[in-house]
Amino acid sequence: MARITASVYTSHVPAIGAALDLGKTGEPYWQKVFSGYGFSKRWMQQQRPDVIFLVYNDHATAFSLEVIPTFAIGTAAEYPVADEGWGPRPVPKVIGHPELAAHIAQSVIQDDFDLTLVNKMDVDHGLTVPLSLLFGQVQAWPCKVIPFAVNVVQYPVPSGRRCFMLGQAIRKAIESYDEPLNVQIWGTGGMSHQLQGARAGLINKEWDNRFLDRLIADPAGLAQVPHIEYVREAGSEGIELVMWLIARGAMADVAGGAPPRVAHRFYHVPASNTAVGHLILEN
Ligand code: DHB
Ligand code: FE
Repeated sequence: MARITASVYTSHVPAIGAALDLGKTGEPYWQKVFSGYGFSKRWMQQQRPDVIFLVYNDHATAFSLEVIPTFAIGTAAEYPVADEGWGPRPVPKVIGHPELAAHIAQSVIQDDFDLTLVNKMDVDHGLTVPLSLLFGQVQAWPCKVIPFAVNVVQYPVPSGRRCFMLGQAIRKAIESYDEPLNVQIWGTGGMSHQLQGARAGLINKEWDNRFLDRLIADPAGLAQVPHIEYVREAGSEGIELVMWLIARGAMADVAGGAPPRVAHRFYHVPASNTAVGHLILEN
């Protein structure tokens, strides 16, 4: 059977991708950000996952205001790289796993979660920046990726509670797939940031660190936090953090297993307009 071996959480700041692509990683400002990922890159080389189930949000790249799926699972064989702002990043295309994605869609939809099936989709910095942070600059991504896009851009957004329950359904789906795959689940976006309006630039270190503490030790309690608290305390784009609860809900302890091992934890301010958070939990 397929196994979820670990969950990885990280911010997806587009300027991090640009710093990598434009050769700025040696600058002191960026060195402080990338210092938090040195361990993670070495860890990844040992882990060698077959598939990453990558929870992220699209930033009006694949989905415009014409169609806004709450939860969208990528069932394609491959995904071209696109982006707004700096333009498409010079990174490899993303290779999917249509068979596992179809199996997960079948299981999760039959478990009463309404997913949108996406057979053709471009992926933006929400997905590619986390891959770059964990794999570095490579000719081809070393594993397959199932993109899972969550709407945290256009209201109404899904609750943390629903995201946490969805993670549990995803775990059940993956672990009933009849092939011995090493699967990781990633939750991306966050941490506190606000890109617009009177509070642009908002950062809340205390709230972010409390979020990390509770994500590790009290995810069921954290899942009860209403969306308005994310927006009030962590800024309008801080709502991206509900996606971390999908990955956390897929960990073994939530289904009655042992607590995860904290392999790595990192927090840094600033990167562009955001606080950067990063966590690795092993099953
Ligand atoms: C920034 C952060 C984001 O998460 C994003 O999607 C776009 C921009 C920023 O910090 O500039
Ligand atoms: Fe974002």
